[in-house]
Amino acid sequence: MATGSSGVVIVTGAGGEMGHALIPHLLAAGKRVVAADLRAPTSPWPDGVRAATGDIRDRAFVKTLADAWGEGPIEAVYHLAAVLSSAGERNPELAHEVNVMGTMHLLSLAAERGTPGHPPLVLFPSSIAVYGLHDLDAKRNAGALHEEEHLDPRTVYGLGKLAGEELGGYYARYYRQLDPQGPRRAVDFRSIRFPGILSADTLPSGGTSDYGPEMLHAAAKGEPYRCFVRPDARIPFMTMPDAIRAIEAIAAAPVSRLSRRVYNVGAFAPSAAEIAELVTRHFPRARIDFSPHPARQAIVDSWPEDVVDHAARRDWHWTPTHDFESAFAEYLVPRITSRYAAAVR
Ligand code: SER
Repeated sequence: MATGSSGVVIVTGAGGEMGHALIPHLLAAGKRVVAADLRAPTSPWPDGVRAATGDIRDRAFVKTLADAWGEGPIEAVYHLAAVLSSAGERNPELAHEVNVMGTMHLLSLAAERGTPGHPPLVLFPSSIAVYGLHDLDAKRNAGALHEEEHLDPRTVYGLGKLAGEELGGYYARYYRQLDPQGPRRAVDFRSIRFPGILSADTLPSGGTSDYGPEMLHAAAKGEPYRCFVRPDARIPFMTMPDAIRAIEAIAAAPVSRLSRRVYNVGAFAPSAAEIAELVTRHFPRARIDFSPHPARQAIVDSWPEDVVDHAARRDWHWTPTHDFESAFAEYLVPRITSRYAAAVR
């Protein structure tokens, strides 16, 4: 995983979906992890993890994170904490404070607490929410988007992710540029724009791509599901194991291989109807109907149908393991079925 010195590895949003999936990989790589989250852990973390409970809006709390294992440099920050897109629209001020100010606090911490000459890796999960198509015609005409296209987000979450990407670039190039010795390369900032993510183990909360995972988990539990977007709504998705693989691959890539700091990654891009069909094929008793929520639909309509991920494929050999069919047949359905076995029986 993270290369460089053997300092601590800080994971924010450690109790969230991606944190749960990522931390075992960091431990397997022998890292000493600081698991930061707003909420205290519901079950104890294994050896190798120290929990830090607090709010990343609080700069004083963030400053304590580097010391959870005693004095020592920061090797890497996996800054996963965020208020997702639907939750952000319900409280834009909170979303800005967490998503932008919180990111700034983590970047400052990493910049100040690295090993001299070894800027800490800062891994920032960005999102397809940085894109903004004005209407459905624009979305259909645009097709799959390259990284530089249509950066006109409709949500405060998308704005915050775009700001986080730019702030990361600033800390990587221009931090302390007025100091007599000039700017420092204070952090090794790397970012992946994720599509919607499908996990067999957890559900997201407060996102707008949540209809994908919610449909599947409801069917596996034997519950009906009312989908909040139209059947033709189409955005890219990938599985959680592939998302973690992408993080590992970009983190391990030699800096000389990286032609950019922010990368698209894609895997498959089904419509909501196609997700419903595949869920129903695997769970024939699934009860899914569609009752679009206009505002959430408009957010999904502003996100691209798919992304172009040539740069990630070329620079750090990104390739998803799961396509749409195999995601369900080989990962989601077997794992989710055993998870909810008691409920469906
Ligand atoms: N999955 C996120 C959301 O729906 C987008 O990155 O908010």
